[in-house]
Amino acid sequence: MKIIKTIEELKEEISKLKGSTGLVPTMGALHNGHKSLIDKSVKENDNTVVSIFVNPIQFGVNEDLDKYPRTFEADCKLCEKSGVTIVFAPTPEVMYSSSKDNLTLICPPYSAVDKLCGKSRPGHFDGVCSVVAKLFNLTHAKRAYFGQKDAQQLFIIQKMVKDLNFDIEIVPCPIVREEDNLALSSRNKYLTQDERKIALSISQSLFEARKLVEQNIATKRAIVDNSLALMKELDVEYIEFVNYETFEFQNEVDRNTLMLIAARTPISKTRLIDNMKL
Ligand code: PAJ
Repeated sequence: MKIIKTIEELKEEISKLKGSTGLVPTMGALHNGHKSLIDKSVKENDNTVVSIFVNPIQFGVNEDLDKYPRTFEADCKLCEKSGVTIVFAPTPEVMYSSSKDNLTLICPPYSAVDKLCGKSRPGHFDGVCSVVAKLFNLTHAKRAYFGQKDAQQLFIIQKMVKDLNFDIEIVPCPIVREEDNLALSSRNKYLTQDERKIALSISQSLFEARKLVEQNIATKRAIVDNSLALMKELDVEYIEFVNYETFEFQNEVDRNTLMLIAARTPISKTRLIDNMKL
């Protein structure tokens, strides 16, 4: 496995690769959620490139860029064990020649970002799309792997690929959860012991909502009320229902509904997201 830190070296190594390349973009602090994407790529491609880059231009000014967990050595070990060909780990200076306001960015449309996570994180998805587009261009990957954990991100990247005719296949990967159903996230490292327990009410809300839909006794109101009661110790940012294909808001829930939750924990103020197709 090669660990590469510059664009020149990456270009050279990519030009030497034979066969198909799968790309797994990450911000590091790798866990089994990331590993599931890596394993799928290794299985489906001749080469796998994992990028590890805490992308500054997707963080807002008051967000956790500086304290975002960084576990580079362990990340490289996980990649090597998993059969990764190249780890690309640039610095911000290598990726960006200037500050965000002086860069050419890819900006998804208002209709896609003025909701859910985009609403509370202005500019976030511009930063995500711009870095992902650079990684697509640099790696010439045939496929790129993204988790359904970040459902709005996945939707926006699929839209970018379609709208801009990127010659790449986006492979969605299911959410990996702990045994008690907490969705794996690098940000779970911020949680206190108590918060780790309180955080379970997020996935519990989703699983209970799915049960209500399966029993045909679900109204949006009933699901929201049940979820708010379960998550009473969290600061809930949104509970929303969209069509899982179009991401349009839905007034009534059915089996095409994707339910999404964002909430903050009371002490460390960690922002957690999760979602489920009902
Ligand atoms: P990061 O949060 O590191 O996530 C990298 C990829 O892992 C994303 O596609 C995310 O959806 C996926 N992932 C995270 N937790 C998961 C889980 N529990 N189950 C399945 N997949 C999971 O998302 C980003 O980084 C960045 O925005 C990035 C796309 C790398 C651009 O900077």
